Amino acid sequence: MSRDLVYRALAERPGEYLSGQELSRTLGISRAAVWKAVEGLRRQGYGIEARNGCGYRLTDPGDRLDRCSVAACLAVPRDNWQVLDEVDSTNTVCRRLASDGAPDGTVVIADCQTAGRGRRGRSFSSPGGMGLYLSILWRPDCPPQSLLPLTALIAVAVCRAVERTGGVSPAIKWPNDLVLCGRKLGGILTELSLEGETGHVDCVIAGIGLNCRQRVEDFPPELSDMAISLDMALPVRVRRAALAAALMEELDTLRTDVLGDPGRWLADYRARCLTVGRRVQILRDGHHIEADAVAVDDRCGLVIRRDDGTEEILRAGEVSVRGLYGYV
Ligand code: BTN
Repeated sequence: MSRDLVYRALAERPGEYLSGQELSRTLGISRAAVWKAVEGLRRQGYGIEARNGCGYRLTDPGDRLDRCSVAACLAVPRDNWQVLDEVDSTNTVCRRLASDGAPDGTVVIADCQTAGRGRRGRSFSSPGGMGLYLSILWRPDCPPQSLLPLTALIAVAVCRAVERTGGVSPAIKWPNDLVLCGRKLGGILTELSLEGETGHVDCVIAGIGLNCRQRVEDFPPELSDMAISLDMALPVRVRRAALAAALMEELDTLRTDVLGDPGRWLADYRARCLTVGRRVQILRDGHHIEADAVAVDDRCGLVIRRDDGTEEILRAGEVSVRGLYGYV
């Protein structure tokens, strides 16, 4: 805990020296505890310069993803979140925590996933030090159908977090792929657990994966033509800790708003959804159906119009969008 406090104090005053005495007084810990915390932070990879008569100064916040660096970026302290070095999948860890009774809003963040999962049973490439892998557990009191918009609107929360920290606005490929420069920046896997007797929602686990540090050659060959990372798209480096903190904050706001008034989020979803107005292809019963995507309805369903003029609303599933990910 002292490490969190010392890191936060140094990170809040970039470039400035803070004396051991001042840190000890403002943080309410002994000078020995300050020194021990600084040593611990250095071992974790932070650059902290110590100068006689001046004190300590943060020289390199690095891109480590740990509790300390994320805590320093949160505007308001928050309960029930953890950062782990390596997990199988943050969604799986969240599910284990849920069965042990973890509360609404629990968040699991990892630096690396050994068995990251994508939609439709696919795997999600999750190398250490490269991406942000974050899952959140919610326990809303509602029937499952009312969660349809929520899963799509999570994409808006992710876009807002990227925008706040990186200054670029990703688009959304329906229902919730994050797209930057026409390539996939990340994805969302939402899983539900229902109560047997009532069919009510026991919990929702939303897992978000974002590519941050990858270069083209870091992606598996089958993804290298369609994936992108923040580093590939931006001239400045977005720290994963800052992104994780912003994402938790946006997801918390989404959770509150969607129970009250989701209207603002829906408008934002529509503005960001690049699928509408494009030609799409749907795979159904082994056949490809072509149609025009014409709108997103009030529950984030995709309204498509076939060539014979008939319309249909897609509630779930995936569509290929012409001009994206190699569909020409
Ligand atoms: C997709 O695009 O198919 C969805 C990818 C979702 C990946 C995230 S990473 C965090 C969470 N843990 C997982 O195992 N999957 C999700």
